Amino acid sequence: MNLARQIEQYLPRQLLELVKDISGQAAKQGKRVYLVGGVVRDLLLGYPNFDLDLVVEGDAVKLAQRVAETSRAKLLAHHRFGTAKLRYENFTLDLATARKETYAKPGALPTVTPGTLKDDLVRRDFSINAMAISLAANDYGELVDPYQGKSDLEHRLIRVLHTGSFSDDATRILRAVRYEQRFGFEFEAQTAQLLKRDLPTLDTISGDRIRHELELIFKEKQPEFVINRLGELGVLPIISPFLKGDGWIAEKFDRARRLKKPTQLPSLYFCLLIYSFSKTGIEQFLARLNISAKLSRAMRDTLRLKTNLPLLDRPSLKPSEIYYLLREYEPLAIQVNAIASDSSMVHHHLQLFLTELRYVRTSLNGEELKRLGISAGPEMGQVLQVLHKAKLDGEVRTKADEKKLALSLKALDFHTDPEPPVE
Ligand code: CTP
Repeated sequence: MNLARQIEQYLPRQLLELVKDISGQAAKQGKRVYLVGGVVRDLLLGYPNFDLDLVVEGDAVKLAQRVAETSRAKLLAHHRFGTAKLRYENFTLDLATARKETYAKPGALPTVTPGTLKDDLVRRDFSINAMAISLAANDYGELVDPYQGKSDLEHRLIRVLHTGSFSDDATRILRAVRYEQRFGFEFEAQTAQLLKRDLPTLDTISGDRIRHELELIFKEKQPEFVINRLGELGVLPIISPFLKGDGWIAEKFDRARRLKKPTQLPSLYFCLLIYSFSKTGIEQFLARLNISAKLSRAMRDTLRLKTNLPLLDRPSLKPSEIYYLLREYEPLAIQVNAIASDSSMVHHHLQLFLTELRYVRTSLNGEELKRLGISAGPEMGQVLQVLHKAKLDGEVRTKADEKKLALSLKALDFHTDPEPPVE
């Protein structure tokens, strides 16, 4: 089968020219270049995918170096892995030396040696990801499909290439479910059995790799389907005994998507995922997945605020009270609780803080207060705090209002109470 027409149709002109240039340079070095993996699958499905992976039969780094010399591409080479990234103004291209992989034990990183295109395809996760398209001049566009990937695409099947695939690399269990849900495919019968059989090997996978797979899941259009299915298949309890994929998650993920910019969504999903966790549960989860300090703080804050939500479920709360109840929490944790809470009052108070109260500042600053005769130090701190509170509660609006209040406080030789406690 020849896919030249599809390549010309789907790839942007600029990208196509880059790819052809690389293939031309490769020919001069006596090498052949292929498009591989996701882009081939998506070309056959008719989905756009400009994330191109190229496999070179021969040294990919040498080829990339030559291409970088003759173009304006920036080169990032990994000699040890025989891979290179070419960064252009609008695109990046990944080049890899065709390789053979062997796994010493489950979960270990593979031992890699140079190989043929066929070696490179057979080491891959699923048949639908194990196809290539030749970019060489003599057979440009020819599909290389030694493992019936095209037929599996047509039958809507996810199929591993050999019985050791999941145990070699158990992240493929998570990948299988991600593709199954993204494309609405099914597991081929033996693949389904192998997946079940090899579930325990997920324990051999490092936290970083599991977290990375969750991050990929969170980039899907509807990650809740993947999470739900991972629950059904018994994958979630292996990652953490407290993880659940249920209707609650589905509803809240959907709500998060309506609210948030895509860049912030993955962190929101992570926090929603652990919303029903205990304190011990969350600590185990953070350690298992080696979650960053920043996200860990947001996740812990999410649960801390959850236990304090009843304090926000009162209609009589003044804006300043809401402010003092919430100011210590990570904004992300507040947002998560706004999504998670079923009380419209709580939701309203949390949103008020996020959209308005946290940005409220006094108009007068320290210098201006000094000019009014208020001395720097604790006295000024107290005056600023009263001004801020009054501004939050709408008792002062203009700078003139603030001046008036500051002077009246000075006349009283005013001292405020200490700040109300946060929890
Ligand atoms: N791959 C694999 N085993 C893995 C990860 C990746 O065999 N554990 C192979 C697959 O052939 C895959 C390719 O490496 O197609 C590139 O991986 P990746 O960029 O993660 O996937 P894409 O196929 O590009 O798919 P998508 O980004 O659409 O999920």
